[in-house]
Parts: sequence; C-alpha cells; structure tokens
Amino acid sequence: MQIAIDGPAGAGKSTIAKKIAKTYDMTYLDTGAMYRCIAHCVLDQIGDQFDNEAEIIRIAQETVIQFKGDLVFCNNKDVTKEIRTPLVSLHTSDIAKIKAVRDLMVRQQRDYAKDHAVVMDGRDIGSVVLPEAELKFFLDADILERAKRRKKELDAKGNDKALEEIKKDIENRDMNDRNRTEGPLIQVAEAIVIDTTGKSIDDVYDEIIKHINEALG
Ligand code: CDP
Ligand code: CDP
Repeated sequence: MQIAIDGPAGAGKSTIAKKIAKTYDMTYLDTGAMYRCIAHCVLDQIGDQFDNEAEIIRIAQETVIQFKGDLVFCNNKDVTKEIRTPLVSLHTSDIAKIKAVRDLMVRQQRDYAKDHAVVMDGRDIGSVVLPEAELKFFLDADILERAKRRKKELDAKGNDKALEEIKKDIENRDMNDRNRTEGPLIQVAEAIVIDTTGKSIDDVYDEIIKHINEALG
C-alpha cells in the first residue's frame, strides 16, 4: 500500500505521516528532508550561490541521502538538526524548483516505494511521485495557525524569530512551491482534503485512520 500526503508548510504532514506509518507498520519517507539535504550541502560547499544551477545539480548528483530511524544522513554525516534551520528552509524551495534536482529526488523516492509499503509526505507525492497511490491526502491549515505552530517549534530550539517574520517566510515558500513549473504543490482531484485549522494532531489522525480503514475494507 502507498499513502501520499501533500500540503503546504506546517499543515501537519510529517507529524501525521509518522503516526500513520507506525500504526500500519509502514515506512515513512520525508521527501522534504531530501530537498533540505541538497540545500544544506549547497550552503556547505558553495555558500549562498542559489543561482548557480550547474553547481547545484552537480552537488545534487553527488549527495548520498540516507534515513536511519529519525536521523537524516548526508554523505554519511548526521544532518538531522542542520537541515531544519530557517536558513535551509528559506533556500530549499530555490533548489526544489530545478528540474534536474527534482528528477533525481523523484527517482530515488520511487525506487524506495518499489520495495516498501510507504507513507510519503511532500508537495508532489500524489501528483508526480506516486500517482498510483491507493490513498492521497491533502492537509491544509490557516496561514496564521501554521506560522504559530512553526514558531512554537523554533522557540523550543531557542530561536526567537518573530511570528510575522515566520508567517512571511512560510507565505513566500508556499508561493514558490505552488508556482514553480516542475512538481508544484497541487491538490489532485482524488485527494481527500483535510483542513487541520483548530484541530489537534489526534483529531486529524482519527480522521485519516477512518479513511484508511475504509479503504482497507
Ligand atoms: O516541514 P515543511 O512543510 O516546512 O517543509 P518540508 O516538507 O521539509 O519541505 C521543505 C521544502 O522542500 C518545501 O518548501 C519545498 O520547496 C521542498 N519540497 C518539494 O519541493 N517537494 C517535496 N516533495 C517536498 C519538499
Ligand atoms: O510537515 P508539515 O510541515 O506539514 O507539518 P509538521 O512538521 O507535521 O507540523 C508542524 C508543527 O505543528 C509540529 O510542531 C506539530 O506538532 C504541530 N501540529 C499541531 O500543532 N497540530 C496539528 N493538527 C498538526 C501539527
């Protein structure tokens, strides 16, 4: 079985995807972490050169991404924390719009799904990566609530970014993700849409579980 979860930043995709994967003994693949790894490697290797497509593609081709439990490794280095910084978040959508980078990531994601029962979350899972997925969800939430969720996470890490700034960053990233030509964030017609505004993680989880159980018969 394959489950695709798409939606904008902070909609609750990864939190829910992890819980579902645990419940049904499936593998969770965080595709956003893969794009984040490439942005991190670009910053690490060539700095802030996000208009240097040729170098970005070379880096994407040479980067080996691995998941080990909750940890993410880039060329054998644990980058779990580094890929979540606001700077990496900001630049990830810059590298994610490059066709050659997306082709490389999508190929790896599809290969992974060949021999695993997967729950995958991202932006283009239902539309591009797993168009045949049995179940597709599109999670969304009000922008202010999504920004507040992200702020809570950043505050817990000791980063006191203002709510307004976080909101603006998310809006910009969503806009880039929705408007790019390759693998944009879209809600496919067959997706089950869940607005998570005002809902707890458990509320959303229960709603999704109902749909999965129905699909399983
Ligand atoms: O956790 P959050 O929703 O903030 O971001 P993420 O899922 O880690 O994704 C970070 C960025 O990677 C997104 O803003 C997209 O630019 C890109 N991405 C993508 O283009 N395609 C995917 N399947 C997943 C992420
Ligand atoms: O993966 P995505 O960016 O869509 O969102 P996430 O990383 O799963 O969730 C962002 C934050 O919102 C996390 O800290 C979740 O615990 C929180 N969250 C929430 O408070 N209520 C929900 N219904 C879903 C997520």
